Amino acid sequence: MKFFVDTADVKEIKELNDLGLVDGVTTNPSLILKSGGSIAEVTKQICDMVEGPVSAEVVATDYDGMMREAETLAKIADNVCIKVPLTLDGLKACRAIRKQGRLVNVTLCFSANQALLAAKAGASFISPFIGRLDDIAIDGMDLIAEIRQIYDNYDYPTEILAASARTVNHIKQAALIGSDVVTAPPAVLKALVKHPLTDNGLKQFLADWEKTGQKIG
Ligand code: E4P
Repeated sequence: MKFFVDTADVKEIKELNDLGLVDGVTTNPSLILKSGGSIAEVTKQICDMVEGPVSAEVVATDYDGMMREAETLAKIADNVCIKVPLTLDGLKACRAIRKQGRLVNVTLCFSANQALLAAKAGASFISPFIGRLDDIAIDGMDLIAEIRQIYDNYDYPTEILAASARTVNHIKQAALIGSDVVTAPPAVLKALVKHPLTDNGLKQFLADWEKTGQKIG
């Protein structure tokens, strides 16, 4: 499963990228706001650092506006993936941008039928928002499982990008279901390594090693 990091914070992306944990990046208007930078500058900095797709979202809601913004965003770098909302205009733009040979991430997906439409529009990635469904007491993982089944039924090449992942369990469950990608905030990706038995075991080994009085190298 690919790991995308869900942030526009360049420092945090660099730290995870140096650890080899970044296969791509997702941003959105709220994350750009949080970064305090301009979308052009921040996206350029991220694209220079990361080899994989970097999603940058259009904010126009009509087809022509989305196409204009996609053109501008695509000029930032070759690995920019244009993010469009799951609306009729967004799906139309998805189809057109894909015809230009660019990557498209269709975002704000909350139903299997929406995901089916995105696959039919040729989306590179579909972003079902797990956490936001959990927020309204609907199990986001059921949606990931439904989309997996539908895409497998018809061999759609659209990759499932489990988004709005807020916990390490979201990542484990998405991986068990067979999501192609998960995008999560840096803290959640870093938390994957944590286990109290690892910490305790290491502490004990180091204490015993100290008692041997030996040195390696
Ligand atoms: C995905 O591309 C979105 O940027 C993101 O995962 C949304 O997550 P949130 O629901 O925690 O804001």
